[in-house]
Amino acid sequence: MAFKAGQNKGRTSRIVDAEGSTAIRFDNVSLRYGTGPDVLQDISFYLDPGSFHFLTGQSGAGKTSLLSLLYLARRPTQGSVQMFGRDVSSAPRDALPALRRRIGVVFQEFRLLDHLSTLDNVALPLRVAGVSEAEIQRHVPELLGWVGLSRHLHATPPTLSGGQKQRVAIARAVINRPDLLVADEPTGSVDDRTATRLMHLFMELNRLGTTVLIATHNEGLVRKFPFERLHLEGGQVSVLPPLAGWAAGDGLFAGGNPLADLEDL
Ligand SMILES: Nc1ncnc2c1ncn2[C@@H]1O[C@H](COP(=O)(O)OP(=O)(O)OP(=O)(O)O)[C@@H](O)[C@H]1O
Ligand SMILES: [Mg+2]
Repeated sequence: MAFKAGQNKGRTSRIVDAEGSTAIRFDNVSLRYGTGPDVLQDISFYLDPGSFHFLTGQSGAGKTSLLSLLYLARRPTQGSVQMFGRDVSSAPRDALPALRRRIGVVFQEFRLLDHLSTLDNVALPLRVAGVSEAEIQRHVPELLGWVGLSRHLHATPPTLSGGQKQRVAIARAVINRPDLLVADEPTGSVDDRTATRLMHLFMELNRLGTTVLIATHNEGLVRKFPFERLHLEGGQVSVLPPLAGWAAGDGLFAGGNPLADLEDL
């Protein structure tokens, strides 16, 4: 199923027609595991560079599966995925590491390195990129402070709470200012106030140019922030307008769309 121009009427509409400039483009993508059923069935969509979307859908709908195509952990069973102006679904294996370095990923299960400190986990992408130790010692503690982990710089993940680990994973995903951020349920282990703060971190990254896609079950979050939703159901994706709206002035408000109660997340 392909989206037609005009299907998206939201103010923040970023899904564009086939001729538009796209950071991400899925063409007739299907994904199945082994001999199982198609988890994603012939889906097509476009995400503009610099857009911000939620990815919604019930547990098992295929959110993590779709994200895994975007962070290049899997290739589609059929169809093509284009990112950064190239077809990544057929890119040679040795081209993938360089592409992956442009993508920040918050994994649903964090995937921190247990033997490294918080600071070293977050520094990892910078070290891979050859950033100087002086820069690392300046930037990493600052970001960890921002996510409320100043007192845990030298702790290792097994000694942290779930929400603390989640914040380390988020810091690691954003420290490098990736071109694309994909976050899988990134606020699933934190309280609402922290979730809102983390959303502002993602929005700041987005303001600096990063394309952002956030898979979430958190209905409160989706109602609070005015971003379009890619919604997965029955192997199909559809684009739904934001549940929240923008305040007339400077920021966000949680009021929103009068139709919101009629929509399923
Ligand atoms: N590695 C795998 N091998 C086989 N089947 C898988 C694998 N990963 C996911 N699936 C199946 O694919 C479907 C979609 O799973 P996926 O993890 O993408 O859903 P999800 O929307 O992320 O769910 P949740 O909200 O619970 O995280 C499920 O039916 C799941 O059983
Ligand atoms: Mg998942």
